[in-house]
Amino acid sequence: MADIAVFIERYTVARSEEMGALMRFAQVTQRLGHRVDWLFRPDIYKIPEYDALFIRSLTDPLNASYVAARTADLHGLRVIDDPDSIIACCDKVNMYRRLLCAGVPIPDTVFLGPSELTADRGADLLRELGSPLVLKAPSSSFSMYVERVTEPSAFVRVSRRFLRRADLVVAQRFVQSVFDWRVGVLGGDPLFVCRYVIPKRRWKVLSYTESGRMIYGAVQSVPLSLAAPRLLDVAVQAAATVGRGLYGVDLKQIGDDYVVLEVNDNPTIAANEEDVNAPQVYERVIRYLVGEWG
Ligand SMILES: Nc1ncnc2c1ncn2[C@@H]1O[C@H](COP(=O)(O)OP(=O)(O)O)[C@@H](O)[C@H]1O
Ligand SMILES: [Mg+2]
Repeated sequence: MADIAVFIERYTVARSEEMGALMRFAQVTQRLGHRVDWLFRPDIYKIPEYDALFIRSLTDPLNASYVAARTADLHGLRVIDDPDSIIACCDKVNMYRRLLCAGVPIPDTVFLGPSELTADRGADLLRELGSPLVLKAPSSSFSMYVERVTEPSAFVRVSRRFLRRADLVVAQRFVQSVFDWRVGVLGGDPLFVCRYVIPKRRWKVLSYTESGRMIYGAVQSVPLSLAAPRLLDVAVQAAATVGRGLYGVDLKQIGDDYVVLEVNDNPTIAANEEDVNAPQVYERVIRYLVGEWG
């Protein structure tokens, strides 16, 4: 029997689907004969009393969740997400370099330093990588600092704004599609597959209105057995460049092939969304945490 801690913040349970998933994790933990407790920030000091830690909150090296991950790691607990994965995934330049080194396909991508954020360089990139061109701040999450430009002047304006948050800016070829593939990977094996549908008249899975309201599309769960082997293969390779934990790999399909947009640590697992055709997700995560998987 193992004692499992789940680290959460109040916003973790803002959506009933995420609350529902936590309940399913708790039920499976009990069914497998283990114990589970919810820990909040003030409980971080209790982490060493547990056998495993499962983080279900935003992970960032500057967040309490990172302190929780480090504490667990230092005390020899099994932990999702491990601190190294949090560090690797929070920086897109680092992540894309890992993918490029491992030969994992990504859209054509360049990293730009301060001296390159000129209208001339913008015009060259719009020619070489095509228009629109996607710009990303390395630390972006929730699509916050990912924008498209079609003019050299907009390239200069957006890229200089993004550079305030980093010392490099990512420029990437735009890949058109009506959905992103999301492949959950755990311990080196595919865990679930979904389509994250892009809302009408938008180009990102998640975006915001002027007033800051979130706009997101449907989550369509696809049985692992029906997913293209190449999709799973590329996703598993991408996850392996970061680690052996739990990841959500985002990919675009181009014909019969795939390019990786991002490897996310702490991927969303929500009840009646990611789990629809993957009811085993809860049990596999718990088995991983207690050392029976991966
Ligand atoms: N090269 C690209 N071509 C087309 N769409 C993209 C591209 N890169 C990102 N996107 C869209 O923008 C969203 C956010 O990009 P992503 O790199 O995942 O940043 P974040 O970490 O902020 O989520 C993606 O889910 C995808 O829908
Ligand atoms: Mg993303």
